[in-house]
Amino acid sequence: MCGIIGYLGNRNAYPILIDGLKKLEYRGYDSSGIAVFCNNGYKICKTKGKVSELEKKIFYQKKNMIGTSGIGHTRWATHGVPDNINAHPHVSNSHKLIIIHNGIIENFHAIKIILLKNGFHFKSETDTEVLVNLIEYIQTEHQCSLEEAVRISLNEVIGAYSIAIVERSNPNTMIVAKLGSPIALGIGSNEKEFFIASDPIPFLNYTKNVIYLKDGEMAIIKKNEKLDLRSIVNNHKISPVIEQLQINLKEIEKGHYKYFMLKEIYEQPKTILDTLRGRLLNQNGGIICIDGIELNKKIFTYAKHITIIACGTSWHASLIGEYLLEKLTRIPVEVEYASEFIYRDPIIEKRDIVIVISQSGETADTLSALKLAKQRGSFVFGICNVVGSSIARNVDDGVYTHAGPEIGVASTKSFTAQITILVLLALTIGKYRSTIDKHLYHNLCEELGNITEKVFCTLKIDRYLKEISKKYCNVKNFLYLGRGINFPVALEGALKLKEISYIHAEGYPAAEMKHGPIALIDEKMPVVIIATKNIHYEKIIGNIQEIKARKGRIIAIINEEDLQIQMLADHIIKVPKTSEEISPLINIIPLQLLAYQIACIRGKNVDQPRNLAKSVTVE
Ligand code: M6R
Repeated sequence: MCGIIGYLGNRNAYPILIDGLKKLEYRGYDSSGIAVFCNNGYKICKTKGKVSELEKKIFYQKKNMIGTSGIGHTRWATHGVPDNINAHPHVSNSHKLIIIHNGIIENFHAIKIILLKNGFHFKSETDTEVLVNLIEYIQTEHQCSLEEAVRISLNEVIGAYSIAIVERSNPNTMIVAKLGSPIALGIGSNEKEFFIASDPIPFLNYTKNVIYLKDGEMAIIKKNEKLDLRSIVNNHKISPVIEQLQINLKEIEKGHYKYFMLKEIYEQPKTILDTLRGRLLNQNGGIICIDGIELNKKIFTYAKHITIIACGTSWHASLIGEYLLEKLTRIPVEVEYASEFIYRDPIIEKRDIVIVISQSGETADTLSALKLAKQRGSFVFGICNVVGSSIARNVDDGVYTHAGPEIGVASTKSFTAQITILVLLALTIGKYRSTIDKHLYHNLCEELGNITEKVFCTLKIDRYLKEISKKYCNVKNFLYLGRGINFPVALEGALKLKEISYIHAEGYPAAEMKHGPIALIDEKMPVVIIATKNIHYEKIIGNIQEIKARKGRIIAIINEEDLQIQMLADHIIKVPKTSEEISPLINIIPLQLLAYQIACIRGKNVDQPRNLAKSVTVE
């Protein structure tokens, strides 16, 4: 995790760096720091806490951050507590080298012991301080340039990194390198002004020309000179590929919303439509046309087994994918946590497919699982939101969700976009394999065509949810129940509440409640139950009765015309009726809003919940 930013050119670096760090805060926000270079040295400022704290500190300490090159960092702690000392940038023992780093140097301890024997000392607990001193040590020993010292050092380290490093005596040169952690280079005017960042959003105001550094690449950036790209392993020259960014500035602004999360919840009618655009053509009862699937028609048609791998919210979408794919394609599906898949020697056989799902496309566990699946000979298909991300680049083929940049740490619109793709995928494979009934296929295509309007209507319950939220904002525990395809929706609802309000919440299959969690139910326990009309409806009523008998408080998500549950529940949240297969697209909306409203009433920072970061780029 962590966000890194750098600038080298003719402008004043500080405003670019501080503004860039604010845009990267979704990657971590427990401490931050900036170093700005000028001909007679550098100014550095670091602090515990958010970037706004850093800005204040620089302002009050009257730090004169003037210079045309600089680096900055916003941290999500791995090695060492969040404090001023562990915050980046880190400086080498002789104060010659200044570095920022995202990732983990796994063999830092062994390197530290060697450096200690050679007289180095360390102020922080970080692996980064070890790396910068290793580079200094190598540079002194080999009497070589900074770029050569960086290259030699990086060949000695094990782990993941994206780094930017500057030599105090040469502020017009910056070395940037990548292995595992993402880094984008923005190429400014005349290809001689450079921006570096963990993602391109911080430099979108200045340039749309971007180079995504690949693993094992190192860029030597010199002011007013063309970029020099090299291989870290053998120093071979590499031709850079400049891409054009397609992101619109409006997509990364909060507009009139208080938080990005709320904006992203409200964007869902549009983002689902964007996911469907050009893919669901509603003539003749529905034609689905997705290149990434069409091109692999044979592989999907004859697949023997599908494993879906993901983390967090994407894992919940995967569970929905399991229901859909098994029902509509009759291919057995298994869903794995990426972090578990990597360590359990998975069995992959001929004609097995692995699908990886990730919003960011940078989640380290998912990326490792993808690589392992490929090593074992599987065809790996990706469902990703971020274009050009590591996962998108590493899969054999895949589709983008096109939900637009998701900035709130709690995923919302990416979840509904992933489900939309999974419905399209299941329908397409079902058609290839003739495992789906024609009427069902056409009905679902038609329902998908109308879904955005229903999502739009569902959002109108926001005001009513505020009232419910006030009643329950101080409880300690919540239970979320759902059955069938709505069980993962219950899990996702519980995750949203935990993440942003810090209230403990559990998601359970409704029928499983009687095997244990029912013991928790008393008059203080709110139970959110997804009770929209489907094949489980009668059974769900039974579950509601069981909760009522134990005085639990029932918040039921029901369809508009349902009178039966209205009589039983303490609170009802009415949503439009739709087919069971796509009902998660509707049913998750009130759960996202409920979590949001409760967190706001509790005064939490919804976009930056404690201890979290948007993309988890460490294993
Ligand atoms: O970017 P990814 O979809 O791979 O991220 C996976 C999880 O880290 C992510 O969904 C996380 O659980 C979110 N905080 C959920 O809101």
